[in-house]
Amino acid sequence: MTPSRPALRLLLGVSLIAGSAAPLAARDVSPAAPAPALVETPAGPTPASWGDTPAMRAFVDALIAKMTLAEKIGQLTLLTSDWVSTGPTLRAGYKEDVAAGKVGSIFNAHSVAYTRELQKLAVEGTRLKIPLLFGYDVIHGHRTMFPISLGEAASWDMEAIEKSARIAATEAAAEGLHWTYAPMVDISRDPRWGRMSEGAGEDVYLGSRIAEARVRGFQGKRIGDTDAVLATVKHFAAYGAAQAGRDYSTTDMSERELRDTYLPPFKAAIDAGAATIMTSFNELDGVPASANSFLLTDVLRKEWGFKGFVVTDYTSINEMIPHGYSKDEKQAGEQSINAGVDMDMQGAVYLNHLARSVAEGKVSMATVDAAVRRVLDMKYRLGLFQDPYRFSDARREKADVMTPAFLAASRDVARKSIVLLKNDGDVLPLAASAKKIALIGPLADSKADMIGSWAGQGSRERPVSLLEGIRARAGKNATVSYAKGASYQFADADKTDGFAEAMAAAADADVIVAAMGEHWDMTGEAASRTDLNLPGNQEALLRQLKTLGKPIVLVLLSGRPNTVSWAADNVDAIMEAWYPGTMAGTAVADVLFGDYNPSGKLPVTFPRSVGQVPIFYNGKNTGRPFSADKADQKYLSRYLDSPNTPQWVFGHGLSYTTFGYSPVTLDKAAIRPGETLTASVTLTNTGRRAGTEMVQLYTRDLVGSVTRPVKELKGFQKVTLKPGESRRVTFRISDRDLAFHRADMSYGAEPGDFTLGIGGSSAVETNVRFSLGE
Ligand code: BGC
Repeated sequence: MTPSRPALRLLLGVSLIAGSAAPLAARDVSPAAPAPALVETPAGPTPASWGDTPAMRAFVDALIAKMTLAEKIGQLTLLTSDWVSTGPTLRAGYKEDVAAGKVGSIFNAHSVAYTRELQKLAVEGTRLKIPLLFGYDVIHGHRTMFPISLGEAASWDMEAIEKSARIAATEAAAEGLHWTYAPMVDISRDPRWGRMSEGAGEDVYLGSRIAEARVRGFQGKRIGDTDAVLATVKHFAAYGAAQAGRDYSTTDMSERELRDTYLPPFKAAIDAGAATIMTSFNELDGVPASANSFLLTDVLRKEWGFKGFVVTDYTSINEMIPHGYSKDEKQAGEQSINAGVDMDMQGAVYLNHLARSVAEGKVSMATVDAAVRRVLDMKYRLGLFQDPYRFSDARREKADVMTPAFLAASRDVARKSIVLLKNDGDVLPLAASAKKIALIGPLADSKADMIGSWAGQGSRERPVSLLEGIRARAGKNATVSYAKGASYQFADADKTDGFAEAMAAAADADVIVAAMGEHWDMTGEAASRTDLNLPGNQEALLRQLKTLGKPIVLVLLSGRPNTVSWAADNVDAIMEAWYPGTMAGTAVADVLFGDYNPSGKLPVTFPRSVGQVPIFYNGKNTGRPFSADKADQKYLSRYLDSPNTPQWVFGHGLSYTTFGYSPVTLDKAAIRPGETLTASVTLTNTGRRAGTEMVQLYTRDLVGSVTRPVKELKGFQKVTLKPGESRRVTFRISDRDLAFHRADMSYGAEPGDFTLGIGGSSAVETNVRFSLGE
């Protein structure tokens, strides 16, 4: 049974009070403050507020009436410029195509001069003067680079994430761009898959809140504002579940898993107003996503009421031939457009074959017109028919780029994204007595790596390296010696040639800071790994350094969870800094020296070994659950050679202070549908520094018509406290927050018993019972 639209709205549009909208998630809740409303209306544009007018309808209808089939097909064609590409460049003469009206949108072209040049070809060279739409992958910054998306997700700070997208959009729009291919909202539980770095991690609730925040940030107040770009929620769908973590590989899962875990962030983004959506490269249940009418028509348009347009991923229509789904390009194009794909990215399949398909009656003119209308509507909303050059403004291109305010925001998000994983003996923050700091490792003096993959127009020479950031902060108080020491290249695994230099640099240091991780291109697209260890000879060097008997701080820089179990047992402190962006070294120094007290929390589980993958916090209990008190029993769901538990759990992250949680209190132990239960704790800063805690609420549904996860994140709140200060933190829960796809695939909560827990990570026990009545 298909859930009704109102039911789905409950699934995807409603959230708990905390984290439901950016200002709430980022705001402290004082005891006196009334709990915010359950349903938050997103601030950004929604389809209903896209500003459509009868005038738009009349204009676009009249235009379509004048168009030849070839002109219509042009509007459904998106080609890359020759500036950048992530796949085969199938057509060289894109400028001639623009002038001939064969292409309606161009990606990978930017800058005011170049977008004007191309726009001129379209509006002066073609019969109907239809302007081009310019797209680009503006993922985590355009020129001012922010942390990679997975890093930003570790901030759990919706305000910061929205602001990052806002700045990226401002910079991109100032260069003539109208459209970004972001946010990527693919849930991923497999760190072998390099594209995990582009998303928000493993969790459906956190991922949905972040999806909304990014859409609001990119699209700003109104579609058509010249400091905003259209968002593209991608990759629809289930791309993050690629078998064995190998990019572009098959995905296959139950419809329940799809709807409960993989689809909600897409729906959240669409409800927040995302204007466009991109299909994924993978097949799902045997049907490639770019011809999947269940996804593109039944779910997206009929259930969700999506009114924007659908674009494919790069040549993914053509790829249905090797998938074994289409016998040739012509058939692939028919399958795509009939399934609900509006625009063909880079494949030129519509361009080359669609006219014949229409002539043969394989594709109706009504289908073509509907797709063309969606594209032209978007150009109209952007105001391009009034002024095709309105985004290409030379003044803004100079003024709105890498401003001091943008760089300050990048630094702020970067330090908020850093997760302190371990800090034995409070070795961090670095003590004033640490007069000699040895900075070692292949990422210590790297600039290029600091901005990760999908770095848009971010300069790889511009970022502040860790060495620069740490030296600048240490000033005259400490000396910083540096040696690269090791390599992160796979081929260098057996080399030791840099070790002596590193040992010499560290010989009389008070503390060793090791900056290790992965080359920036080891995550992102086409960057899957079978092994999650630190590549090259980095761990071997770390083991050598350990023989010096000095405190060691490991700063991890990478786009995925790495397996670092030796380091977890043997070094004193570990922080995950991801790829922090343009202000990398400054932000890392802020945290190392304690100028910023870390508050990041893992958006993804860190496994002990690759053999545990996929590993995530909200799995099922099984019929033979393992627990420590049954360690002598064999026939339990366990490994012979490893604990079941990960290295670090989802939601984990330490601070330089400590927090105490009182027992949870409920205002009532039972609710009925429509009623609300209030769960509260008193959070106390029990340490000696001011600090920020991300308070997390998890629930468990004990018995269901289908089995339920052992834990599910349902809310989070950010609370900043002075030493000794306490605050009451309150969450509200109703049946709507407990909904899922039941045995008959209807959507809603089931009456019965539940437990909940409130704490600082997903390790919190959910042991406070409540029930939901009929
Ligand atoms: C990626 C997309 C990206 C597109 C355009 C593809 O290879 O999968 O995420 O938006 O290229 O650059």
